Amino acid sequence: MLVLVGLVLCLTSADTLTAFPPKFQVGKLNGDVVVKCNTSEQQVTWTQNGEPEPMAELVAEGQTLTILGLDLPAAGNYSCWAGPILLDTTYVVVSGTGEKGMNVSCQAESYRGSFHCSWTGPRSAVFRARLTHSDGSLGQWVPASGRRGRFSASLVDPTFCPFAEELHPLQLQLEGLSDTSYLNSSTHFFIRDIVRPDPPQELTVQQWGEQLHLAWAPPASWPLPKSYFALLYRLQYELPNGTQVDELVEGAEETRLQAPAWRVRISCRDPYASPAWSPWSPWQSVGAAQQRQLRAH
Ligand SMILES: *[C@@H]1O[C@H](CO)[C@@H](O)[C@H](O)[C@H]1NC(C)=O
Ligand SMILES: *[C@@H]1O[C@H](CO)[C@@H](O)[C@H](O)[C@H]1NC(C)=O
Ligand SMILES: *[C@@H]1O[C@H](CO)[C@@H](O)[C@H](O)[C@H]1NC(C)=O
Ligand SMILES: *[C@@H]1O[C@H](CO)[C@@H](O)[C@H](O)[C@H]1NC(C)=O
Ligand SMILES: *[C@@H]1O[C@H](CO)[C@@H](O)[C@H](O)[C@H]1NC(C)=O
Repeated sequence: MLVLVGLVLCLTSADTLTAFPPKFQVGKLNGDVVVKCNTSEQQVTWTQNGEPEPMAELVAEGQTLTILGLDLPAAGNYSCWAGPILLDTTYVVVSGTGEKGMNVSCQAESYRGSFHCSWTGPRSAVFRARLTHSDGSLGQWVPASGRRGRFSASLVDPTFCPFAEELHPLQLQLEGLSDTSYLNSSTHFFIRDIVRPDPPQELTVQQWGEQLHLAWAPPASWPLPKSYFALLYRLQYELPNGTQVDELVEGAEETRLQAPAWRVRISCRDPYASPAWSPWSPWQSVGAAQQRQLRAH
């Protein structure tokens, strides 16, 4: 009996969305919504979420269906049929009811015009994202991926020029559909403000007499030429007693240490624009033999 009740409840609740529906319509709470069936058939029948008896007050006339006084149970998947043949489907949702901020945050690993954004939303929602490019043109909608209420999308501005000063911010628009509601958010930013480089690579440590010689390379994703896309490096080394020491290096990809460090790591950032440091590289251990030699001195 309980199983039966559960089954019926599942069948009549709004379908859980797994992808952004090709056609949707947003209505105001308690307002009327007119759904059109895109067909040449003169008479059609309607279902809501696959049910022939919808949980809404409806007026069907020819190819249109009017939902009177839209409320949450009336939201969902409206399909029109010619007998057993599915003609068209429209997903109807209620416009956002004072949804709190989605806390959108974006990050670029360099000045190539590509970046990644993430935000929060209801667990049941599906989202898509669209960019207004730096030249003013409008990009395509990109489906977002999401898990447990955290969503993300990767976007590219193909008109972005890394050598020109950014005069206009990029505009990001997000659209989401939960089972019953429409969510909408828009944010704008400059790429230069969201750049966080990848970590520097190929950090090597060599014994040179009494000193340690460190060398590294910029992150592979960082643009060239170096003279234009400078990097500020931050080295961190750990002494045998556990003390960590930071050292900044600008305009070079090597340095020498006098200290008896037993491991080192490195990060970097754009010295002129965004102040975000890259993640650290993995720790590089100084070889045991090198340490013994250092302590002997
Ligand atoms: C209606 O259907 C036709 C043919 O399938 C399609 O080309 C057209 O874009 C549809 N119009 C709308 C508003 O969905
Ligand atoms: C809406 O219902 C139709 C017919 O039952 C189905 O083919 C379609 O996949 C459903 N769409 C969504 C988004 O649930
Ligand atoms: C927004 O996101 C950032 C990082 O993702 C987090 O630190 C912060 O607490 C969030 N703020 C709110 C209001 O959720
Ligand atoms: C969604 O937001 C954008 C920008 O904030 C706005 O132009 C658009 O009309 C909104 N769409 C709906 C359906 O409210
Ligand atoms: C660790 O060693 C360094 C240099 O050998 C010294 O300057 C520092 O005071 C020491 N720190 C502690 C906590 O012993």
